[in-house]
Amino acid sequence: MTTKIIGTGHYVPERIITNDDLAMIMDTSDEWISERTGIHQRRIDTGEGVVQMASKAAKNALENAGIMAEELDMIIVATSTADYLFPNTASLVQRELGNHQCTCLDLSAACTGFLYGLNTAHAYIKAGMAKTALVIGSECLSKTMDWTERSTCILFGDGAGAVVVTEAETGIEEIVSHSDGRKGEVIICDSRPLENFLVKKDVTYAYTRMDGQEVFRFAVKTVPECIHELLEKAGIGVEEVDHFILHQANERIIHSVSKRLKAPLERFPMNLQNYGNTSAASIPILLDECNRAGMFQSGDKIVLSGFGAGLTWGAILLTW
Ligand code: UT7
Repeated sequence: MTTKIIGTGHYVPERIITNDDLAMIMDTSDEWISERTGIHQRRIDTGEGVVQMASKAAKNALENAGIMAEELDMIIVATSTADYLFPNTASLVQRELGNHQCTCLDLSAACTGFLYGLNTAHAYIKAGMAKTALVIGSECLSKTMDWTERSTCILFGDGAGAVVVTEAETGIEEIVSHSDGRKGEVIICDSRPLENFLVKKDVTYAYTRMDGQEVFRFAVKTVPECIHELLEKAGIGVEEVDHFILHQANERIIHSVSKRLKAPLERFPMNLQNYGNTSAASIPILLDECNRAGMFQSGDKIVLSGFGAGLTWGAILLTW
């Protein structure tokens, strides 16, 4: 018995910001951003927030799965940009969906968050603690950006993706999951600063800081290694994988992974040109777009792989 994805959905804010739009507010250009990243535009939230985006993606996924919210035993939201410190995002999504009893939890693992969420749902299902779960990645990264820091803010976008999973005979086959906190500072965003009756501070809100080259080096080395580890565990070759659904951070990272794995680039669908890096939302948004485009056939082998702040990374092999 394992865990199968039976429905996918996504939602992105309406407001499109192109590279040319950014060039009007900072010293950058469409040429620079396109060449270095492959990103042409991103969606930016103008007031909906993480809960609303997550709820819309979730409703979309439930509809696609053909199940009612009441049938869910669990809702997991992967996010690093929650609207509230508490209650958690998942409980507020639950309220929007109209299910009033299932387990609701948020999970923070940056761009690997959705993978960790799927692993957690799988573990609950394997343990008999849940039968059907909703796993969502929802992010409003635009509120964590310093919009004068051109090397970081141009990469990111807002949005949400979701999958419904349930117990089944085929589905998730193998998982690898890792973290290494020693490089925690290479992509980091502070929480609220400590300020109370003992400690007085001028409260300033900090923004995302990133050592882009260090993150790039980490990704191009770690992702192929981790996929090799996954496929070795599963006892299958790279050539047997039909689709590689990677975290959508940078086109050059995906090209490099394809080259290092010696797997044709056609097997690496991408949508980062439209959405930029949506962190925990990127894998489920792409999964949904591929699913609705009819790209996946029953029995296809799919590798999901995420990487990001923590540092965190991992990969999942599943049969569609
Ligand atoms: O989920 C994981 C999230 N993080 C990532 O995926 C980040 C991975 N890293 C990257 O994608 C790349 O490192 C970046 C796209 C962020 C940067 O590309 P790079 O080739 O590493 O550029 P760089 O930082 O070395 O900057 C090269 C030049 C610099 O100018 P000088 O010093 O050579 O004169 C920068 O000031 O490009 C300049 N620059 C820009 N120019 C125009 C930096 N950002 C921009 C910009 N527009 N937006």
